[in-house]
Amino acid sequence: MIKNWQNRFSENIKDYEGYPIGKTLKYLADPEIISLAGGLPSPKVFQKSEMRIISERILNIDIDKIMQYSAIPGEQSLVDAIIGFLKRDDINVEKKNILITTSGQHGLDLVGRLFLNPGDRIIIDRPTFAGALVAFEMERPEFIGVDIENDGSNVQVFEQKLEEMNKQNKLPKFIYVVPDFQNPTGITMSFEKRKELLDLSYKYNVPIIEDSPYRDLRYYGDPIPSIYSLDQKHNNGGGNVIGLYTFSKIFCPGLRVGFNIGPPEVIEKMTNIKEGNILNTPKYNQDLCMAFLTEMDLDSHFKKCKKYYREKLQVFLKTMEKYFPKETGVTWTTSEGGLFLWVSVPEHIDTNELFFEAIKYKVAFVPGEQFYGENPAKNHMRINFSYASKEQLAEAIKRLANCIKPLL
Ligand SMILES: Cc1ncc(COP(=O)(O)O)c(C=O)c1O
Repeated sequence: MIKNWQNRFSENIKDYEGYPIGKTLKYLADPEIISLAGGLPSPKVFQKSEMRIISERILNIDIDKIMQYSAIPGEQSLVDAIIGFLKRDDINVEKKNILITTSGQHGLDLVGRLFLNPGDRIIIDRPTFAGALVAFEMERPEFIGVDIENDGSNVQVFEQKLEEMNKQNKLPKFIYVVPDFQNPTGITMSFEKRKELLDLSYKYNVPIIEDSPYRDLRYYGDPIPSIYSLDQKHNNGGGNVIGLYTFSKIFCPGLRVGFNIGPPEVIEKMTNIKEGNILNTPKYNQDLCMAFLTEMDLDSHFKKCKKYYREKLQVFLKTMEKYFPKETGVTWTTSEGGLFLWVSVPEHIDTNELFFEAIKYKVAFVPGEQFYGENPAKNHMRINFSYASKEQLAEAIKRLANCIKPLL
């Protein structure tokens, strides 16, 4: 009988602890807790009747294929629908540029496996998406984090870091950013910064990973071109950006379908990795995503989502102003879209401890520490405003205020 399994775990995995947010969620079983923790889209905007009708139809016409293995790069019909979907956003890709993934998290895993050796560097924002950190951590990279600004990544400091690393002959393998309504802060990168970031990518020959789950969930202002599209239009011919997309937030997370786009060499190699980890993404799920893009009236769905989430965002911001006047020292980001905001409390409060106190007040958030690749700040929290009802949101903030005020 094997006594010590720990000794047999691989170097990459033996100290790996997985997704910290998952561990947080286990404290939320009490139904009285209002959770602003998970990154859940609201079932109120799910297209449930369309799903039922289309599910029945595709099961009737295609059940043999649905129950069978299917193509690893993805269903041709979905790939074609994605080509059309991206054209709306001024991105022109062909089949060779697309790999269907089993959600955004899988897309991130493919990036990590493809590029990283232990000790390789990655430039990231501080804070950044915790799921990207856990995906990349499996390869034990070194995270080089730079504090994010209100208009996105601090590109100036990125440049200083790249210059230093270049001198050491140890440039990062890639720069990872979520330019639209970033998870966890809700911050959007300005047009100027997108161009500057791309210039850095060309100057230092470092690829950009652009993670875009929230791009279509814009509630205010005009869309800013994606870094992928700016790269495509550049007179050097582009090819420096890999785009990660998922149906999770715009359609539903339960189907676990997404896609990566990029240069054919990258997509081909990612496909090889997919052959070795999950093989195909379920055809049934892909067919439903195809129907989402081509049959379910995308424009009116996005209009509905935007109206619904915009109202919640307004409730959140209004209630925060009411319960956290300036003198409390509590601040928060605002956002033009997405699902999250970032709340900062005075530095003497550690939000890991505050989390357990907040549970007593029947309200939950994600402690900010989980969103740092290195040297975490302790006085922030991520708030999700898409899932709880408007009434719950207002009540949750009131509870949070009751919990925080005695500590100020
Ligand atoms: C920035 C970002 N990338 C990727 C994902 C992963 O999404 P999925 O649910 O499709 O795995 C998320 C989910 O929260 C996200 O916020």
